[in-house]
Amino acid sequence: MSDAQHDAPVIRRGDILEIEVEKAAFEGRSMSRVGNMVVFVDGAVPGDRVEAQVYRKKKQFAEARVEKLLEASPSRVDPACRHFGVCGGCKWQHMSYERQLYWKREHVVDAFTRIGGFDAPPVTDTLPAVEPFWYRNKMEFSFGEMRWLMPDELGVVDRDAELFALGLHIPKRYDRILHIDDCRLESQESNAILNATRAFFLARDIPAYSTRTHTGDLRNLVIREAKHTGERMVYLVSTHRREDIIRDYAALLQKEEFAVSTFVHGVTDRKSSVAVGDEDIVYFGDGTIREQLGANRFRISPTSFFQTNTLQAERLYALAEQAAALGKDDVVWDLYCGTGTISLFIARDVQHVVGVELNASAIADAEKNARENGIDNTTFYCADIVDFLGDKAPADVPSPDVIITDPPRAGMHAKVVAAIGASGVRRLVYVSCNPATSARDCGMLREYGYRVENVTPVDMFPHTYHIECVITLRKDD
Ligand SMILES: C[S@@+](CC[C@H](N)C(=O)[O-])C[C@H]1O[C@@H](n2cnc3c(N)ncnc32)[C@H](O)[C@@H]1O
Repeated sequence: MSDAQHDAPVIRRGDILEIEVEKAAFEGRSMSRVGNMVVFVDGAVPGDRVEAQVYRKKKQFAEARVEKLLEASPSRVDPACRHFGVCGGCKWQHMSYERQLYWKREHVVDAFTRIGGFDAPPVTDTLPAVEPFWYRNKMEFSFGEMRWLMPDELGVVDRDAELFALGLHIPKRYDRILHIDDCRLESQESNAILNATRAFFLARDIPAYSTRTHTGDLRNLVIREAKHTGERMVYLVSTHRREDIIRDYAALLQKEEFAVSTFVHGVTDRKSSVAVGDEDIVYFGDGTIREQLGANRFRISPTSFFQTNTLQAERLYALAEQAAALGKDDVVWDLYCGTGTISLFIARDVQHVVGVELNASAIADAEKNARENGIDNTTFYCADIVDFLGDKAPADVPSPDVIITDPPRAGMHAKVVAAIGASGVRRLVYVSCNPATSARDCGMLREYGYRVENVTPVDMFPHTYHIECVITLRKDD
């Protein structure tokens, strides 16, 4: 046993520790070392000095909760939202935006150093969000028959009112819903619609659907809005049609203050909590909203995938385009292309784009989006990238001058990395939503002669620990 281990204090569940909080670590949790033990501290900001009570003790780490703030960190700010700390949505709202950006960059540097094995990785400052609040273009609220109360609501709310809730799920308690009346993520109109919807259905005694007993009716309220065009959609999902009541609800939504362009009622009796109707009934508008992204228009239906932060997605794609150093004669492969937003963003500047994606409905959307934007130099393939890069690619696919890859959080399959490595493509751009897996993949690509020239962290989700990156890789002759 080393001296340090010998001297380490013994930490037990229930202990109150005085802690200087060092940093924001894995998944954005504040942490410190006490002896050789890592202690995660809920409710703290790096730089705080706190008294915290240990509520879980494992071999390698302990988890504690702030009981008393002894000295506030200079990074601490008052959270803008009254639901902060109970709602799981914006865990970093009590940290200044500047420090959020700092810690996001630190996480990227740490991943590239520790996981990717890079010395001094070329990571720039984090590109801040255009708007740190009101940035989301979609909110999905849930109805529930078990309401979770804010501390100031305990003992004030009567028992009946606890049986109906409309808001967001409590973290790790998926059957409990917190009433949200003032969320800073989408818009004031979205809040107004949320509150009017709750009051409307409460007054009519329509029960929330229960995911435990599969009884009740109201399931989800989805509000989508196009930040450029200003169009707004309400999508209500429930078990029953209740046409008379829903007609009255549609009339309510047509009030000017809500600025709703289209209202769709989704009906399903599935035992699922996914906000999708088996039948979608359009009450007004055409059931879609239109949004602009770069030079393209996208038609968004109640369940279609679309990047959640429109303005920052444009900056992310512009950075990816710049990193690819595109020329008019280039053939680009856009791997994991989703609904083709990157392909279409760059299509006018290159000779041809080949998009590849596993999800068939995303590919159908990509093809439709290309047609509707008058773009005829893209080809979309529905395939697993592993197969596409293996021996199953159609023979007539033009080989790439540039590859752009935007995999899910798990990163790229080792076979995909190997196939890209073997392709010999010189310009490679990796758009990543998980620094740990992109660092791993870039480490593997180094074995094939790729250099990481630049890593730019991009903040798509302020007040959360999530971070995207645009990584520029190059291979010499
Ligand atoms: C991060 S999203 C990329 C979205 C898109 N590039 C955009 O900007 O909207 C990752 C995509 O990879 C797709 N995907 C996941 N695994 C795949 C695989 N093995 N082969 C092909 N596509 C896959 C998912 O369906 C998803 O659309």
